[in-house]
Amino acid sequence: MTPPACDGQSQPLTTFFSQTSSNSQTLTTGYISNTAKSTSDTEMHEPKSKSSIAILGCGDVGSTLAYTLILNPICNEVILVDPKTALLEAQVRDLNDATYRGNTGTKVRAGTHKDAGQADIVVITAGAKQKPGESRLSLLSRNLHILRSIFSSMQPINPDTILLLVANPVDILTYFARKLSGLPESQVLGTGTSLDSARLRGVLAQKCEVAPNSIDAYVLGEHGDSQFIAWSSIHIGTTPLTLALPPTILTPQFRHEIAAHTRGAAAAIIASKGCTAYGIGNIAASICKYILYDIRCVRPISFYQPELGCSLSMPAVLGRKGVVRAMPVNLDEKEQEELKACAENLRGIIEGAESEWAAKEKLEEALRRDTLVPLEEGEKGEEKGEEKA
Ligand SMILES: NC(=O)c1ccc[n+]([C@@H]2O[C@H](COP(=O)([O-])OP(=O)(O)OC[C@H]3O[C@@H](n4cnc5c(N)ncnc54)[C@H](O)[C@@H]3O)[C@@H](O)[C@H]2O)c1
Repeated sequence: MTPPACDGQSQPLTTFFSQTSSNSQTLTTGYISNTAKSTSDTEMHEPKSKSSIAILGCGDVGSTLAYTLILNPICNEVILVDPKTALLEAQVRDLNDATYRGNTGTKVRAGTHKDAGQADIVVITAGAKQKPGESRLSLLSRNLHILRSIFSSMQPINPDTILLLVANPVDILTYFARKLSGLPESQVLGTGTSLDSARLRGVLAQKCEVAPNSIDAYVLGEHGDSQFIAWSSIHIGTTPLTLALPPTILTPQFRHEIAAHTRGAAAAIIASKGCTAYGIGNIAASICKYILYDIRCVRPISFYQPELGCSLSMPAVLGRKGVVRAMPVNLDEKEQEELKACAENLRGIIEGAESEWAAKEKLEEALRRDTLVPLEEGEKGEEKGEEKA
């Protein structure tokens, strides 16, 4: 059976704080779609009969994601788009070679941006990547330019498409993708701190000697330097971390080291191999599955936070309509301050990018007018006169 298609009538996401105790607040971002309310249990885990995922950018991340989608098939078709035509063709051929054996019915083909705009999910990995030592934010100007060109070539976009941003800086690009695509905000999300949270679970699993999937732990905020760990809500099974680990281990130094590990993991990998691809390929493929199969997993994902004026990662329920609902999260005072600082940082970057873009458009408009509008006769004469002089 086909899962419910998006009806494009999403309710706006609303975020508000409610006081739950003297020192903690619950951040609630509320969204329940009409379809989500009426979806029956039998419909929830079945994939669409013919589904497609478009991947824009088939470099290291895009091709790894495509490979993951072949090995764990969840859709019928993967469409790859990249302006480097030789690379695109080679990736399609190489990936198709991986489909001839084994248990996959997924086909891979090259497509255009217009084709991609009709897919069920569009994953955007297109863009420059960090060089060793470079920050994610330094990519902003180049990748925002690419994002704008992508949206002008993809129109008209299928109104049910879910956009998944992977390219960096992912929170800022998620914010702009929402504006540029015109899609409801619940349908535009970024991988955000999903990968950072997976790394956090991995390192805590080693310290606590339990399996990573027994740990509920979230890195929230920016997929970048202003991210923070929601320590107060970490649980191992049903046990709060503060009960699972003795205070002699759970020291400020321990927390500092774990946070530094999580924040710096990508840079350390990039320094040695020039990119990160397997972790993010796996995370992005899982998110695609939660969406296509309407699985309703709770994950930290980047999406628009109306109260904060930016997109950043908070826990959300993921389903066929993208962000089905934000989950309330208890933050202690320190974490609330960290969230505020993180949002202010992102908001400042967004405002800077918006004014830079407005100035650029003004300049381009002026240049266009200069080239297109023929000079008035009088002006021509004056110009000739100037030339003689
Ligand atoms: N969010 C995360 O957790 C995470 C993790 C790893 C990488 N990334 C980001 O993902 C992005 C891609 O990384 P990569 O290692 O694959 O880089 P890459 O250079 O290997 O691949 C990027 C590809 O995008 C293509 N591209 C450029 N403009 C395009 C357009 N208009 N349409 C389609 N394709 C276009 C390029 O030709 C290139 O092949 C980077 O911005 C990187 O920082 C994010």
